[in-house]
Amino acid sequence: MESIWEHEVTLPERKNLPGNIEREAVVIGGGLCGILTGYYLQNAGVKTVILEADRIGSGQTGKTTGKITSQHGCAYARLVSRLGRERARQYAQGNQYAVTEYGRLIRREKIDCDFHRCAAYLYSVRSSEEMEREAAAAAACGIHGNYTEETELPFPVKGAVRFSGQARFSPLKFLEHLSRELEIYEHTKVVSAEHDRVMTNWGTVKADYIIFACHYPFVNFPGFYFMRMYQQRSYVLALKDAFLPEHMYLGADPDHSYSFRTAGDHLLLGGEGHRTGEHWGLASRYEKLGLRARTWWPRAVVTDRWSAQDCMTMDGLPYIGRFSRMTDHWYVAAGFGKWGMTSSMVSALILSGMITGNTPEWAGVFSPSRLTPGASSSQFFSHSGKTAKNLAKAWLPPKEALAGLKPGEGKIVEWKGRKAGVYMDEAGGIYPVSPRCPHMGCQLTFNQDEKSWDCPCHGSRFSYKGELLDGPAQEGLKENG
Ligand code: FES
Repeated sequence: MESIWEHEVTLPERKNLPGNIEREAVVIGGGLCGILTGYYLQNAGVKTVILEADRIGSGQTGKTTGKITSQHGCAYARLVSRLGRERARQYAQGNQYAVTEYGRLIRREKIDCDFHRCAAYLYSVRSSEEMEREAAAAAACGIHGNYTEETELPFPVKGAVRFSGQARFSPLKFLEHLSRELEIYEHTKVVSAEHDRVMTNWGTVKADYIIFACHYPFVNFPGFYFMRMYQQRSYVLALKDAFLPEHMYLGADPDHSYSFRTAGDHLLLGGEGHRTGEHWGLASRYEKLGLRARTWWPRAVVTDRWSAQDCMTMDGLPYIGRFSRMTDHWYVAAGFGKWGMTSSMVSALILSGMITGNTPEWAGVFSPSRLTPGASSSQFFSHSGKTAKNLAKAWLPPKEALAGLKPGEGKIVEWKGRKAGVYMDEAGGIYPVSPRCPHMGCQLTFNQDEKSWDCPCHGSRFSYKGELLDGPAQEGLKENG
């Protein structure tokens, strides 16, 4: 399902990597983070190549809601209480600098990307105290914000936090412009990395600096990022005949965490997020979001819908900096949570700064090797009961085992000790796949909304035919044997 950003921009196709090459820096990943990092490095005189496994902007950059903001839920109250005011201030400084830098860059490069200054609001329909606490913590961190009870929303709120000077834009228009002068190869999948080189399906790139800007670092060791992150999905509707707020909004309550922003003559309504792989019942998230929209705007029409996948870290802070202590010239940017646009700019400034000897003074709080409460945790081992190493070869279960499977449905079928993931298409065609994730062997679950097999451990996703959609897995599922 395409987003409105994907409808409005056609990105020119790039060539594959033309064999073995040598550059000063190689960036893995052609999303916003990779393109921005490549841009700043190239501008600083570092010869840089960007490798993209698919098309640039085809991952989360095209699926975002395009908010540029330092307001990240109740981040500041949480950071002040867990890390202290100084570290929380660094986080605020980095993100606020990123918001300002977007404006400067767009002006300097004359980028036509519907960049629009507005305020960001965090609201609660349950409690004013939490919003008051967040407003006070943000102010203590140097953010221009205030507590208010006035919003444009179509329902009453108990309280809200307003950050002024934030922005929204069209991410793919921005990406298209910024990528024009960069050396980029598409359909070039990095399959492994060693010391000073990365190996792809088309050749090898030797480089002094290797930067992993590919959403989820696919190298398991060193770094152990698979033990330090999990993934979440969330859903977006583009609506006409709803309302067009001047500012951007996000709900802070777990049962009312809706996102609102205007994009041209559409309202983008986001929400219904959940951990990837956790599917309960068959209720469609899109339908739930649509029902919610119609309670506020009975005449609203859904014109587009899409979903996004976000990497979440244990302490809520991204990992930006050196990949690991064992790999001196490898760098990483991952775990952006729901804040991919701002975190991409923060990453580009930190990583290009580290490589060119100009590290921002606020970079420390983002360091992947930080030792802060909750920075690491074993998501992998929390699912250890399902991590069988040997991937069962998928087999087609007998008809009796498929009784009750309806067109459009997928489920795990067990028969005499064997298991298969089975999807039935609308014409009654059966697609069996191995139900084990090729990353580390967790059992997959079926995502009814998107007709995909999703992994609850680290968030890899596969189409109902078994093709790889999202990493960290590097290969698709085994088909019926
Ligand atoms: Fe890691 Fe599935 S086991 S993503």
